[in-house]
Amino acid sequence: MGKLRAKDFLTLQDFSAAEIETVLTLAGDLKARHRRGEPHRLLEGKTLGMIFQKPSTRTRVSFEAGMWQLGGHALFLSSQELQLGRGEPVRDTAEVLSRYLDAIMIRTFDHGEMEELAAHSSVPVINGLTDLLHPCQVLSDLFTIQEHFGYLRGLKVAYMGDGNNVAHSLLLGCSLMGVHISVGSPPGFEPREEIEAKARQNAALSGSEVLITSDPARAVEGAAAVYTDVWASMGQEEDKKRRLELFKPYQVNGALLQGTGADAVVLHCLPAYRGEEITAEVLEGESSLAWEQAENRMHAQKALLVLLIKEREKKLI
Ligand code: CP
Ligand code: NVA
Repeated sequence: MGKLRAKDFLTLQDFSAAEIETVLTLAGDLKARHRRGEPHRLLEGKTLGMIFQKPSTRTRVSFEAGMWQLGGHALFLSSQELQLGRGEPVRDTAEVLSRYLDAIMIRTFDHGEMEELAAHSSVPVINGLTDLLHPCQVLSDLFTIQEHFGYLRGLKVAYMGDGNNVAHSLLLGCSLMGVHISVGSPPGFEPREEIEAKARQNAALSGSEVLITSDPARAVEGAAAVYTDVWASMGQEEDKKRRLELFKPYQVNGALLQGTGADAVVLHCLPAYRGEEITAEVLEGESSLAWEQAENRMHAQKALLVLLIKEREKKLI
């Protein structure tokens, strides 16, 4: 098993392409062992703390079930119930939690707050979603794409809709792994420029192509996978009505998929809003990998936990 340089997983940029491959290989191994009913208690006696400042179904349950399957334990820590919610500083929370836990996962709004937690924590910190990035999602998505096609390099992934946290991580993850990535967004909702710039740097090294366009047909042309996410993310509910109109041309539906010119698979990180960013027919259709994607969150995150926690132990000895 390869070594990881990073202590934390705050962004896919924390890992090299080779390190991501290491995680994906272990994820495949753990998934196979889980399917065979073979015990794989690699984190016996370890505890993961999970801080949530936003709702979650997949992230919470996949981390919690995954830790249990690895022989460890996961603690759900709602920020409402932590002293953090009453104003205890993030740095003090990090200092204290590091003395009880073997890793911390956090889902929060402000990416900087998570970086502060990581800076003051002596145990690995995992980004379970911020307003800027959702790297666990895309790590799992890369696993799902590789599992389906048998390889990653040279495939094209087209992301349609809001240039949000998922789009950002997809830009970084695909460009790191040599996957061509296009983003089709309405003007004013493109991914952030600094993320695009980082993706272009990655792409220059990996040999992939990055395209940001407002033309949905151009975005999906030649795509092996078409990906979408909600048009209004958590915290943007008040803007939803306006977005429903602006984003209509970017809906993932049968007509858009015909424009791929190939038998594209469809990806969605979920939760999905049928009739908005995706039609029910496409989400539930044969080309949809959305449910496999959701399952793979657990397998990919188990691999991530094992590598981060074990790597830290080696450094301590
Ligand atoms: N895709 C995802 O992160 O889902 P949850 O918000 O349910 O965790
Ligand atoms: N972009 C979405 C992803 C949900 C998993 C959000 O932040 O709400």
